[in-house]
Amino acid sequence: MRPKTAFLLVLAGLGALVAGCGGGEEETPATPDASPSPASEETPTVSLPDPRLKGEMSLEEAILRRRSRRDFKDSPLTLGEISQILWAAQGITGKTGLRAAPSAGALYPLDLYLVVGKQGVDGLGEGVYHYLPQSHSLEPTLEGDVRQTLARLSSGQMSIAEAPLSLLITGEYERTTSKYGERGVRYVHMEAGHVGQNVYLQAEALGLGTVTIGAFQDEEISQALNLPSSYRPLYVMPIGHPEP
Ligand SMILES: Cc1cc2nc3c(=O)[nH]c(=O)nc-3n(C[C@H](O)[C@H](O)[C@H](O)COP(=O)(O)O)c2cc1C
Repeated sequence: MRPKTAFLLVLAGLGALVAGCGGGEEETPATPDASPSPASEETPTVSLPDPRLKGEMSLEEAILRRRSRRDFKDSPLTLGEISQILWAAQGITGKTGLRAAPSAGALYPLDLYLVVGKQGVDGLGEGVYHYLPQSHSLEPTLEGDVRQTLARLSSGQMSIAEAPLSLLITGEYERTTSKYGERGVRYVHMEAGHVGQNVYLQAEALGLGTVTIGAFQDEEISQALNLPSSYRPLYVMPIGHPEP
């Protein structure tokens, strides 16, 4: 189904929203997003700046300060900040292609998407972007600001609509179950947890905030974001400058 069709179905009140599991959920406003459209094949990938390998906050302090943050300022993130977040999540950190988070059998079943709002990131238009770890770059996949849609499909959690961007962690089970059978499903979920924690800690160290959101409608999000059909959404993580 095309994203536009999925969007209209959502507007028509498709399905009941799933129950939230973390509190802090609020109603989203009625204003819908403009209809998104797939990014043109000519739209160039966006190279990200190299991540820095030394920070100002110690690991211990980041662990101490880490909290789920759901209220964000309007201010945009920089390309440097999203480069750092994506590197901490799935960046290549080893000569043989090993990554920042562990993976069962080094099979790497997770793919990351950024859902960027209007003026959400300096130098990046609103839309959905697929992270390419090998080139540390972003491939545009959808044009338009779909934060309201994503929030509506996530129990109406306003943090998603208000954050300048959200990170979406998806998993393709087959990459891991082809080696480990049904147990691979568990491994993929564990890996999403590892990535989520790296993102929490990196965000905190950058003075940003985030929250792991697990309450959402899988199928509808896949359709609205035009994800490949074998990619399952596992976590939504709104990211921004936290309100004090
Ligand atoms: C698997 C999982 C799903 C979660 N889903 C949501 C969610 O849908 N919405 C939300 O606001 N918080 C969600 N949270 C965040 C928890 O509410 C939060 O971690 C918990 O309240 C503890 O607070 P802390 O993270 O600040 O220590 C989730 C956390 C986990 C681990």
